[in-house]
Amino acid sequence: PRILLLGPPGAGKGTQSKNVVEEYGVEHITTGDALRANKDMETDYGKPREYMDRGDLVPDPVVNEIVVTALEDADEGFVLDGYPRNLSQAEFLDEHATIDVVPLLDVGREELIRRLTGRRVCPECGATYHVEFNPPETEGVCDECGSDLVQRDDDTEETVRERLTVYEENTKPLVEFYEERGLLARVDGEGTPDEVWQDLRQTVEEAT
Ligand code: AP5
Ligand code: ZN
Repeated sequence: PRILLLGPPGAGKGTQSKNVVEEYGVEHITTGDALRANKDMETDYGKPREYMDRGDLVPDPVVNEIVVTALEDADEGFVLDGYPRNLSQAEFLDEHATIDVVPLLDVGREELIRRLTGRRVCPECGATYHVEFNPPETEGVCDECGSDLVQRDDDTEETVRERLTVYEENTKPLVEFYEERGLLARVDGEGTPDEVWQDLRQTVEEAT
């Protein structure tokens, strides 16, 4: 399947993308991870870090390039996570890929703030935890590889609020964009990760 996972920061796109990849063996295309791995790369627009640490969008040409390259290796399907994030990216994507379904992970604002400010990530293997909702066995230590967990630079309360505002202004219009194309499918994102996955899987099955 060719899945475009839509949803605000903290909705669980990364968490659920892992399930999609395990279930269907498709490529995980995530502009956020790609940019984090290249935060200090010089581009025509400066370093990605300058935008990301403020919670702003990185300029379209930079992320469009990441996605076009990733799509070349995605013949068996993909799950797009964190892209597109505005109408111009959505129109660009339209010219480069066909999408089967656009699940929208629905989560309320207060819950998003709790999830993001409590998130901890492993800098070595990329595993994601939450201090309250998904704690590691030993506080501050990755279950998978034993490394010390860190907080993402953009998961401070101030930057989280900015990211949510950027989502409302730039990304939310995509809900209507994909609704008009008959691709949007709302999924309740507020249950446990397993409950959300059951709903998401059913949504994908029905659409493909
Ligand atoms: P990006 O990395 O894409 O971040 P995001 O969209 O803000 O999404 P997150 O990764 O924060 O959240 P998520 O939905 O994946 O949630 P997760 O599963 O981790 O982008 C970062 C930045 O890069 C942007 O701000 C921008 O600057 C730049 N960028 C990226 N793409 C771009 C683009 N296309 N154009 C321009 N700029 C771009 O879950 C969150 C937490 O909640 C975790 O702790 C998790 O354990 C927990 N959790 C998950 N599910 C549940 C559940 N069901 N119940 C309880 N807790 C849960
Ligand atoms: Zn780890």
